Amino acid sequence: MCGIIGYIGQRNPKEILLDGLKNLEYRGYDSAGIALKNENDIQIIKSVGKISILEEKLNHTKLIDSHIGIAHTRWATHGEPNEKNAHPHKVGKITLVHNGIIENAAELKEKLQKEGVEFQTTTDTEVIAALINYHYKKSMEQALQKAIKELKGSYALAILSDDEPDSLYAIRCESPLILGIGEKEYFVTSDIGAILKQTRNYVLLGKNEIVHLTSNDYTITKNGKEIKRNVETSSLTSEDADLHGYEHYMLKEIMEEPVLVENLIEKYSNNFDLLPDLKKYKHIHIVGCGSAYYAGMIGKNFLEDDGLKVDIDVASEYRYRNITYDKDTLVILISQSGETADTIAAMRKAIENKVDTLAIVNVDGSTIARECTYKVLIEAGREVAVATTKAFILQVLILSLLSYKVNKEKEYLEDLKHIPQQLKVLLDKSGYYKKLADAIYTQEDVFFIGRKVDYAISLEGSLKLKEVSYIHSDAYQAGELKHGTISLVRNGTIVFGIVTDDEIRDKTISNLEEVISRGANPIYVGVEDCPYENKIIVPRVHKKLQPLLVVPALQMIAYYVAYKRDCDIDKPKNLAKSVTVE
Ligand code: G6P
Repeated sequence: MCGIIGYIGQRNPKEILLDGLKNLEYRGYDSAGIALKNENDIQIIKSVGKISILEEKLNHTKLIDSHIGIAHTRWATHGEPNEKNAHPHKVGKITLVHNGIIENAAELKEKLQKEGVEFQTTTDTEVIAALINYHYKKSMEQALQKAIKELKGSYALAILSDDEPDSLYAIRCESPLILGIGEKEYFVTSDIGAILKQTRNYVLLGKNEIVHLTSNDYTITKNGKEIKRNVETSSLTSEDADLHGYEHYMLKEIMEEPVLVENLIEKYSNNFDLLPDLKKYKHIHIVGCGSAYYAGMIGKNFLEDDGLKVDIDVASEYRYRNITYDKDTLVILISQSGETADTIAAMRKAIENKVDTLAIVNVDGSTIARECTYKVLIEAGREVAVATTKAFILQVLILSLLSYKVNKEKEYLEDLKHIPQQLKVLLDKSGYYKKLADAIYTQEDVFFIGRKVDYAISLEGSLKLKEVSYIHSDAYQAGELKHGTISLVRNGTIVFGIVTDDEIRDKTISNLEEVISRGANPIYVGVEDCPYENKIIVPRVHKKLQPLLVVPALQMIAYYVAYKRDCDIDKPKNLAKSVTVE
């Protein structure tokens, strides 16, 4: 994971890089660092913890005058998160920051050690710097090309050389990296969001491409040959990354759901031709990680109700399974970022097996958006909070619309129109969610139970709660809890019962009663009133729309529980928003 940003131009880079890093912090935040360069010197400053700590340190350090800089926020993979392991790393004349993983780092390190190179850290990044430095004789381009041939894995790099007073190099191999184009200044970054305050114009880089930037110009090369690429303009603005008065991005992003849902509904309900037709496929595979996988699980329920044959898997498993592909198979890849390493690998496996692929993604221009046969953008705008909320809801909405296109049930369209307003009303009940949070925030264990689509909703509700509040929480198929886990139910244990599907309502209620008789304190989430004291009743809508009204309520509860526990809501510990390593 990790986020990188580089600047070259006329300005002092400190504020530009710091602001960029704050926007990249969602990619990892256990340490950070910056390197500033002028004609004679390179100054490297690093710190453990959030960007604010680095900022503090920079404010108390005498910085060199400079017009070039690179910076990094880290999510540790090789080596613990301490100052020494933080980026930038400098070996000989080479200083660099890195996002990704070098799979043959140990092998390369051994080889370089035999050549007399000494290492200060246990990171794979230092190995890259050492390798480039080893190959560097006169030409940086040649050293970089040689290094590319030897490095295995996924990486994006921003690199400075002591010998070149007005140069910044960057390489993209698998990990995301874009080039930002300003007025007499250039940027490289893992995510356009980090430079939106400076420019909206960018160039996408392809695999193994090297960019050489100076204050006046840039060139892109691959295997020594120059490549021309179009300059594109992002539809995002820096406004997308502002809190707009909310205390946390997570709440702001939940509150955006009604409008975003309305926008997508408007776009597709007048023109279903914009969506691919799933009817023509005999077999559908849905693949994703984390919440994207749970969105897929909800989608699987919709599509199975349409009579389609659907399998689902988490991407990290799918990529290694022995799969016999039917000829008419479609693989649906769900990913907010479009850059999740395992989901990319799953997509490539499908492509190698010559079946169609459909991307349901947020970030246009991302690897998954670019390489799939079809893409449907969820148009969530920028999602900053690490725990996904609005992107999840929009992924579910797209799956719901795809499912409608298969069977075209009339009542669906009628209900669809009212969803944004109903969602807004539900989200306005924050006082009620706060009250429920009061009952939950001191708990050690929480359980969610449901069947079929309600089980998929339970999984997401439970994940949201545990990732932001650090309360242990698990979701079970309602009939399965009694096969072991029920032994954890104590007096007062909170058990959410998700009961939206009428067909299995009574069964789930019976399972809820089983835990109540063992002391559990139920929270009922359903479409029909019930005698339980703690309940969330949402309007009954077409079953392919129901999750859109239930999951946001669970997101609100997770938010308020985390709030009461004083957690770092937008940046939960150990997590990263975009997981670009395997
Ligand atoms: C990380 C995030 C999750 C997200 C998952 C998949 O684990 O913390 O919120 O669901 O990655 O990310 P993607 O960008 O592929 O949707």
